[in-house]
Amino acid sequence: MEYFNIIQALCRSALSNPSSALIHQVDRLKAALEKDGKTKEAKSLSSLLETANSAFDMSPSRIEKSFIKWKGDKITSKTQIPVDKETSTPLAEIFFVEELPVELPIFSDNVRSAIESVVVEWKEYDKLQELSAHPSNTCLIYGAPGTGKTHLAKWLAKQIGLPVVLVRLDGLMSSFLGTTSRNIGNLFSFAEKHQCVLLLDEFDAIAKLRNDPQEVGEIKRVVNTLLQNLDSRKTIGFTIGVTNHETLLDPAIWRRFEVQLEIPKPSFELMPDIIKTFFIPLELEDVEFKFLAWCIENASGADAQMLAKWYKRAYFLNKDESLVSSIRKFSLLNSGRIDQRKRNLLLHSDDELKSALLNDERYSFKQKDVASLFGITQSKLSKQMSKLK
Ligand SMILES: Nc1ncnc2c1ncn2[C@@H]1O[C@H](COP(=O)(O)OP(=O)(O)OP(=O)(O)O)[C@@H](O)[C@H]1O
Ligand SMILES: [Mg+2]
Repeated sequence: MEYFNIIQALCRSALSNPSSALIHQVDRLKAALEKDGKTKEAKSLSSLLETANSAFDMSPSRIEKSFIKWKGDKITSKTQIPVDKETSTPLAEIFFVEELPVELPIFSDNVRSAIESVVVEWKEYDKLQELSAHPSNTCLIYGAPGTGKTHLAKWLAKQIGLPVVLVRLDGLMSSFLGTTSRNIGNLFSFAEKHQCVLLLDEFDAIAKLRNDPQEVGEIKRVVNTLLQNLDSRKTIGFTIGVTNHETLLDPAIWRRFEVQLEIPKPSFELMPDIIKTFFIPLELEDVEFKFLAWCIENASGADAQMLAKWYKRAYFLNKDESLVSSIRKFSLLNSGRIDQRKRNLLLHSDDELKSALLNDERYSFKQKDVASLFGITQSKLSKQMSKLK
């Protein structure tokens, strides 16, 4: 076959430094030759491949690569967690895989599919390795309080099948800043020695420190320690940072994270579903969930959870109370969870509240919905509304 000598020499020379992608391509060439009946040439590539494969399996970089995914010891209940030397308090909390949440919080389709793409990379780890690619293993999750960020981070760990080493960075700050750097160093070296997802929660705590003008030098040291440790963890395990105050984070910290995922507050379309999951086993009409979502518009998933907890108690204590009068009480007792405008509307007269619901363009409550919320007929509602005009 013309030029085969040159092709063979090329392959031999390239395979002296084998990679999985190269082996894959030479293998394709071999298969193509075989298909064309060029048995002799295919055989000679086969023997080159055999030698290259065994060299590749033994090469230090290959061995190191196969360790990257699950590097280190398994964490057990006997594993010693590093502690703050001054106060002896543990620097991290361990969540074993069995303790991690099975359900992903309820997010919009866009957010959910972005999250799933991160998980797929880990599930296809071996395939990616064949192409010398590595799954994203640093992820910054940011967004408003109570939007399910910590829950999501734990869910990600569950999907990957690793326990979580949860570090609350505000707790890590020692009153002695020198100790803080040491704590950070100890934690990262613990994470490096164990198979785990390192979850740095309340990540902005370090950034906030920078506002203290008296500690400039020390703070720089703390931030640098953090940056260095994040760098050296680039190829090991999985690191997740979580923050509510992303604007406080240093751009240098932002850059360290391959995936930067913003978790928005639930949209008004999504909120009824979130409330519904927290209400289980109580069952309400769809329009009642929509009404509750209207009441706590712009609130977070955590607020919806609080509302459900509160309502279950109220319902148990007084089963005859209507949903509207329960939620009025809730609005008085949870002023921070319901915005001022909605609270005012809820505390107006029944008729004014009915009219506000009927005129809300976004939620588009129908007359029959509002009538059923207030336990009256549609014609009675209609009469009441025409009197208001
Ligand atoms: N979109 C959602 N779907 C379902 N549950 C949610 C959602 N958002 C929040 N939650 C629930 O609210 C609670 C608080 O969530 P989590 O602690 O993860 O929020 P967070 O964003 O980390 O809050 P913070 O910023 O205050 O730390 C959890 O029980 C979580 O399951
Ligand atoms: Mg959190």
